[in-house]
Amino acid sequence: MSDDLLARATAVAARAYAPYSNYLVGAAMRARDGRIYEGVNVENAAYPLGICAERTAIAYAVVDGCRPGDLVEIAITASPCGGCRQWLHEFRLERVTFPKPDGEVVSYAPDELLPESWDLPA
Ligand code: THU
Repeated sequence: MSDDLLARATAVAARAYAPYSNYLVGAAMRARDGRIYEGVNVENAAYPLGICAERTAIAYAVVDGCRPGDLVEIAITASPCGGCRQWLHEFRLERVTFPKPDGEVVSYAPDELLPESWDLPA
């Protein structure tokens, strides 16, 4: 399944809006019920306002009614940044797949990508 998701992430990356970095990122995510959500990075002339591909995919899923625990796996065309790792943790993704810079495709659990992660105190 991750192979399919990575193919979709790679295809959707072409629709990224990244005129400042020219770095096109795509993400594709599968929900437990089989729905697929895609995302791309969307940049802004005020640079810090840009949003990563993973976060647009998760926002898309939330608009469609998904909540933490509903999303199973995500494939991304790049290694997720630190902020996106916190989002992946929040939504309890079970598997995160991306190609390393050398091309090797790797999969991790979000806890491996963000050990001892922060949560609101109970
Ligand atoms: N980017 C993502 O979309 N996801 C990541 O996890 C890493 C970075 C985007 C943000 C920005 O538009 C571009 O890559 C360059 O940093």
